[in-house]
Amino acid sequence: MENIITIHVTDLEGQTHEIQAPTDMGMNVMEAIRANELPIKATCGGMAMCATCNCVVKSDHSLPEMSEDEEAMLDEAFVLDIDGSRLMCQIPLTDEIDGLRIVMGELTGE
Ligand code: FES
Repeated sequence: MENIITIHVTDLEGQTHEIQAPTDMGMNVMEAIRANELPIKATCGGMAMCATCNCVVKSDHSLPEMSEDEEAMLDEAFVLDIDGSRLMCQIPLTDEIDGLRIVMGELTGE
């Protein structure tokens, strides 16, 4: 049976969308947002190389540890000063993140 979770995404205009995402297709949060046709650049396609998918996590879900690549990318993109910043493409869709609340982030200098 297909497992579906809900993610609450606040876009750059401050509008919150509730999206449904499957946990059994090996997708990540960025891909779920794309699949729901919300505007997201995600220029590198999920390789942790562009940081245009950065977000701030607002709920207290325990997410997987950041990889070195993710940490380096957020650092380079000057978004690490915001507590809870993550790359959406580096957060896999799992049952544990059901109900996750995130706010899309803008990049400094864009
Ligand atoms: S899509 Fe480029 S870092 Fe996530």
